[in-house]
Amino acid sequence: MTEGGAGQSGRHSAAYGRDGTAHAVASPVDLGDLGASRTEEVVPEDVPPLTEQTRREVREIMARYPRPRSALLPMLHLVQSVQGYVSSAGVALCAEELNLTKAEVGAVVTFYTMFKRRPAGEYLISVCTNTLCGFLGGEEIYAAVQEQLGIHHDQTTDDGKFTLEHAECLAACDYAPVVTVNYEFYDQQSVESTTALVDALRAGDRPAPTRGAPLCSFRETSREIAGFSEADRAATALVGPSVGEPSIAGLRLATQRGERAPAGGASATAGKDA
Ligand code: FES
Repeated sequence: MTEGGAGQSGRHSAAYGRDGTAHAVASPVDLGDLGASRTEEVVPEDVPPLTEQTRREVREIMARYPRPRSALLPMLHLVQSVQGYVSSAGVALCAEELNLTKAEVGAVVTFYTMFKRRPAGEYLISVCTNTLCGFLGGEEIYAAVQEQLGIHHDQTTDDGKFTLEHAECLAACDYAPVVTVNYEFYDQQSVESTTALVDALRAGDRPAPTRGAPLCSFRETSREIAGFSEADRAATALVGPSVGEPSIAGLRLATQRGERAPAGGASATAGKDA
C-alpha cells in the first residue's frame, strides 16, 4: 500500500476530482493515529456514498463469523466495491460496527495492497515484476504499459478506466511472466500480448482470462471477494480452467516416479522436528 490522503479534521474541507475540480467534503473522518500522511482525503465527486444498504451488508458479513472482527477484510472489500477504494468513511463504518478504533482498521487497510487509498480504475492492471517474472520479461511489460497508459505505479488514467501497479509475485510463478486484471490471470504474457490486452479493454472488450472466471470490473470483483456473487456471474464462474499444465507438471513427474507425500501431515512432521 502506498501513500494516501487520510482526511482527519472532522470539518468541511476542499477536495478535488480527477479533473481537478474542487468540491466540498462533508465531515471527513480520520483514520486514527497511523503515523502517516495527515493531508486531507481526496474524494472525487463521482464516488457514491456508503448507505444503509452498505451497513446492512456489512452486518451480513459479520454474521458469517463466530468472532465478528474476523469479518474485517471482506467488510473492507465491500466498502471498496461501493466506492472503488477504502475511504476514511469506510474505515469509520467498519470501526464502528466492530467496536475497533479507526487506527486499528486503518492499520489493516494500509498493510494490504489490495485495499486502495484512492479510487481505482475500472481495470486494475497488476504486472508482476518480481524475480521470475522480472527475468522473463515482466519489467519490459511494465515499462510498455506505463508508456501505453501514460501513468506510473498506483496511478489511474484521467478517464478512470485503468489503474496500474507493479506487483510483488502474483503466486503464479509457473506461468511467468504474469499479468492480472482485477486479479484475474493472464498467463505467460509478452509486451505485445499485454499491450493488445490493454487496447482491447480500452475498446470495450473483456478478453477472457487464461484461467478461472470471466473478467469483471474492479468494483464487481471487490464485491465478489466480499462474498456477494451475483447470480449470473456465479453461473459462469468456472468457464476457464482452474489449473494449467505448468501447475500439474510436478505432480505428473512425482506420479511417474512413484513418489508420495509423507503420511501424517504437518503435525507429524512438526513432532519429528521437535
Ligand atoms: S514471480 Fe511473478 S508470479 Fe511469482
